[in-house]
Formats: sequence, structure tokens, C-alpha cells
Amino acid sequence: MSDSTEIRKGLVGVVADTTAVSKVNVETNSLLYRGYPVQELAAMCSFEEVVNLLWRGDLATPDELARSIARERSHRELGDRLMGVIERLPDESHPMDVVRTAVSVMGGEDPTAWSDDPEEIRDKALILIAKIPAVVAYIQRHRRGLPMIAPRDDLGYAANFLWMTFGEEPPEVVRKAFDVSMTLYAEHSFNASTFTARVVTSTLSDYYSAIVAAIGALKGPLHGGANEAVMRTFDEIGSADNVVPWLDDALAHKRKIMGFGHRVYKRGDSRVPTMKAALDTLIAHYDRPDIAALYDALEAEFVGRKGIYPNLDYPSGPAYHLMGFDTELFTPIFVASRIAGWTAHIQEQLAHNALIRPLSLYDGPAERHIDGYTADA
Ligand code: SDX
Repeated sequence: MSDSTEIRKGLVGVVADTTAVSKVNVETNSLLYRGYPVQELAAMCSFEEVVNLLWRGDLATPDELARSIARERSHRELGDRLMGVIERLPDESHPMDVVRTAVSVMGGEDPTAWSDDPEEIRDKALILIAKIPAVVAYIQRHRRGLPMIAPRDDLGYAANFLWMTFGEEPPEVVRKAFDVSMTLYAEHSFNASTFTARVVTSTLSDYYSAIVAAIGALKGPLHGGANEAVMRTFDEIGSADNVVPWLDDALAHKRKIMGFGHRVYKRGDSRVPTMKAALDTLIAHYDRPDIAALYDALEAEFVGRKGIYPNLDYPSGPAYHLMGFDTELFTPIFVASRIAGWTAHIQEQLAHNALIRPLSLYDGPAERHIDGYTADA
């Protein structure tokens, strides 16, 4: 390797492997999950169906879906040990740290954690899919001094998630908006957290270690932590008529505007129109034209000045806020959804594994030696 070797910092534009899980097409600004446009899946399928599609490669038959749903619903109880994790970690712990710890505990409880059998991995993942809503819901309730709410196995995934968090069955408009967000967040090719999961899997470490590592990567505000940061931005700005001075100051201090920009999409994130439409139904349902005005004003001003477009986190943040989730729970909700994509990629990595270990170009001090050292010292 010579000093003229090209370094691709951040692996920008580097194709690291093939994948059959999803296709992010910048030219057509589209996203396919196993060949299906994500907009069609969001409109026609439940998150439960999308999970099975991502893991098995095809839409589940009615019998396959019924078995998967029954298994997921049978594991929704939080259990004493995970309740204890939430109650014993300090209330100031970030909920992403609590979720990460809960997954570690579940890995420690699983005697077959090291299994690389695809069916066993899908089963572990389905139990995580079932449990993480209970963890997220109990974090919010416990921190508000409220008791845990037991899951309901007569409710679908989205409705039960909202039931366990708020203690009431959601209106259909809220359930649908939440389900759409879970489908849109489920998978996005080799994003940082998914690639992290693949790196850990490539060493033949266990499934839970790959998920814990991915949660750590997703927590960052340049990645999954952006949806939480979007809501903090809205809180800071306050109202539409404060957007211009706020943006003047933010850009003067070279701050990143959360919820905007993307490593792959450069003229808008293909998922935004679908999530914005879902947000619009919530704005109407909760009668919050102030949120709409602020959303539109910031987007128009920033896109107008920098030509940098919203990503999925921009509409998702205010949507989760309107649903009533605490801001720090927005990224844990992203985790609940992205378990689907991470698991699909973990399966794929195992099926065609090669240890992921790139090279580096050394630019440190030339070789030098310790005073007094001799080979026979
Ligand atoms: C997700 O990869 C995925 O698919 C991720 C994801 C998924 O589903 O898994 O889509 C989810 O993570 C979406 C992204 C959420 N993050 C944010 O909203 C944080 C704010 N966005 C930026 O940090 C940024 O846009 C990134 C990190 C998302 C992408 O950055 P890149 O591709 O590394 O581009 P860059 O940072 O080099 O930016 C190029 C230029 C820079 O200006 P210069 O230094 O060249 O003058 O554009 C500027 C940047 O400063 N820029 C921004 C900006 N995004 C880019 N300036 C202000 N605010 C922004 N949001």
C-alpha cells in the first residue's frame, strides 16, 4: 500500500458488500424492502408483516403471519428482571442506555445466545420485538411515577405499544401513524448502526452483542439520536416567527440542524413524504397548527439557504411528541423498529460471512527505540 492510497473517510461512497435486504436508490429517490417500495408497505401492511418480509425475504402467508403474531404476543410481558433494570438504573440514565442494558440482560438470560441458526436468531429477534415496547413504555411510566400497564394480546403491535405507554387504546389515526413510522424506520441498508451490527456479527460474536453495539451506534445525534434532537430544536425555536433569528444564530455557530441532511440521499429522504403525511394526520387530530407552521417555516428557511433536505427524523420527532412520548424515548422507539433491519442483516452476514477488518494508512512517528534496550535485555 503506497502513500498515494485513497482514504475514504467515513467510508463515503464505499460499497462494502452486497445485500438483498433493501435498496436505497438515490437516482429515483426510492427505498425497496426485499423489492417492495416502502410507501406501498406503509400503506398496505402492518409492521408485523414488514418484519416477516425483511427476515424471510417474502411476505408471510396468512398461516406464517398468524404464527409469528401469536409468538410475538406471547412474549410482551416485561418480567421482573427487566422491570428491575428499569427501576434500578438512575432516572437520569438516558433511555437508550436502559434499552441497551435490557438487551444485554436478555442476552445473559439466553442459554443459546451464541446460536447462528437463522430460525433461532429470528426467534430471539421476535422476542426483542415483543419486549422492547414494554421496556420503552415502562421507562416513561416509571419516570412519571405511574405503574406498569400489562400488555394486551388482543391488540396489534402498534396499538399495544401505545396501550402499554398511555393506558388507553389509541384512536385509529394515531395507531396508523405509529405503525407507519415503525415500517419506515425498520431498515435502511448499510447505515452506521446496521453496519455496526454486521461488524460484530462478522467476528462470530453473539446476536445480542451485535444488537447492543448497534444500539450504541444509533444513539448518536448524527444517526438515530436526531429525532430526539429535532424536538429539542422545535422547543428551542418555540414558534415559526422565531425561525429566522434562530437559524441565523445556529448557522453562525456552525451547528448541525438536526433532522436535515443524509449521507446517501442528497435531494431528500425517500421516506419523508410518507411520514410527513402521517404527521399531518396527527396535527389535524390534535389540532396543532403551530407545529405545522414551525415545521414548514424551518424547512423552507433551511432548504432555501443550504439546499439540505429533511430526513426521516424531521417529521418523526414532532409525530412522537404529539402522540405523547417523552422526547428521550424517540430513539428507543427507533430501536424497537430497527431490530427488524438489524436482524435481517445479521442473518445475511452470517450466511455469507467474512470478517470485517479494513486497512489503515499509518501516519504516525517513524520507527524509534527505547533508550538502553538491547535485544538480549
Ligand atoms: C439517520 O445512513 C442512514 O441511512 C441513516 C438513517 C437510517 O435510516 O438509518 O437514514 C437515519 O441517521 C438520518 C440522519 C439523522 N441525522 C441528522 O439529522 C443529523 C444532522 N445531519 C448531519 O449531521 C448530516 O447531514 C449527516 C451526518 C446526516 C450526513 O452527513 P455527511 O453525509 O457526512 O455530510 P457532511 O456532514 O459532510 O455534510 C456536507 C456539508 C457540510 O458542510 P461543509 O463542512 O462541507 O461546509 O453539508 C453540511 C455539512 O456541514 N451539512 C449540514 C447538515 N448536514 C450537512 N449543515 C448543517 N446542518 C445539517 N443537518
